Amino acid sequence: ESVFGTLRSPGQPALIAGHRGDRSAAPENTLPALQGALDSTMDFVETDLQLTADGVVVLMHDETVDRTTDGSGAVADLSYAQIRALDAGTWYSPQFAGVTVPTLEEFLGVFAGSSKQALLELKGFWTVDQVRLVANQVNASGTQHRVTFASFDFTTMMNLRTAAPSIPRVIIQRMLPADPVALAEHFRAIAILTSPASIEADKTAVAAMHEAGLGLLLYTLNSRQRWSEALALGVDGIVTDKPSNLDEWLAET
Ligand code: G3P
Ligand code: CA
Repeated sequence: ESVFGTLRSPGQPALIAGHRGDRSAAPENTLPALQGALDSTMDFVETDLQLTADGVVVLMHDETVDRTTDGSGAVADLSYAQIRALDAGTWYSPQFAGVTVPTLEEFLGVFAGSSKQALLELKGFWTVDQVRLVANQVNASGTQHRVTFASFDFTTMMNLRTAAPSIPRVIIQRMLPADPVALAEHFRAIAILTSPASIEADKTAVAAMHEAGLGLLLYTLNSRQRWSEALALGVDGIVTDKPSNLDEWLAET
C-alpha cells in the first residue's frame, strides 16, 4: 500500500498542506510558509523545485521570479546569487519583507527536524543528472523515507525512476488518461495527482486505481464543498492551500 493509504485510518485521505507551504499564512514556497505547513496537523508539505542557471535547486512555482519576488526574469536564466538577492516576501505582505527564495538544502534542513512527509514537485523537465542532484541532497539530509517526488513531465518521471528508484513517485496530470492504472504503472508511480474535474469525468478511476494498489490524489481543493466531494469519492489525498481551514472542518465533521 502507498504511503498515502497508510497515513490515516482506512478511507481517510492523507492531507497535503501546503500546497507551496501554508500559503494562506505566508508567501508561498518560502521558509515561513513551509515551516507553517510543517507545524500544522497536515501529513504532507508540497513544494516546487527548479534549477537556477548555475545549477542550484531552489523552491519556486512560476518559471519566472516576477510574481513572487521584486525581480524579473526566468529562474533558469538567473544565477543563485541573483535570486538570493531578491525579496520574496513584500509582494505578499510588508510583514515578510526581506524573506528570500530558499534552496532545497535549506528546506531539507528544516524538514529534517519534523516528522512530516514532503511532496517535492520537480517543475518542468529534469535530466537524469539533475534528478540525481536532487536525490543526493535528499539522501544527505536523511529524509529520503519521508519524501515523495512528483512531476507532470513524462521524461522527468522516467528519469526519476532511473536515477532515484527507491524514492516514491507521483505523476501529476490535470486530466486523467483513459487508462490511469497503465499511466501510473508505466512510471512505477504510487499514485496519480489530478484535478476533481478529471475524476468527475471518470467515476471509475478511484476504484480502478485502488484495485491495482495505487493511489489517487486531488489538487487543489480549498472549500468545504470540494473537501466533502473528495471524501465521498474515496480519494487518498487532498492538496489544499488552506490547511487550517481543512483542519477545522475535519474536526467538525
Ligand atoms: O499539488 C499539485 C500541484 O501543486 C500542481 O500544480 O501548478 O500548483 O504546481 P501547481
Ligand atoms: Ca506544485
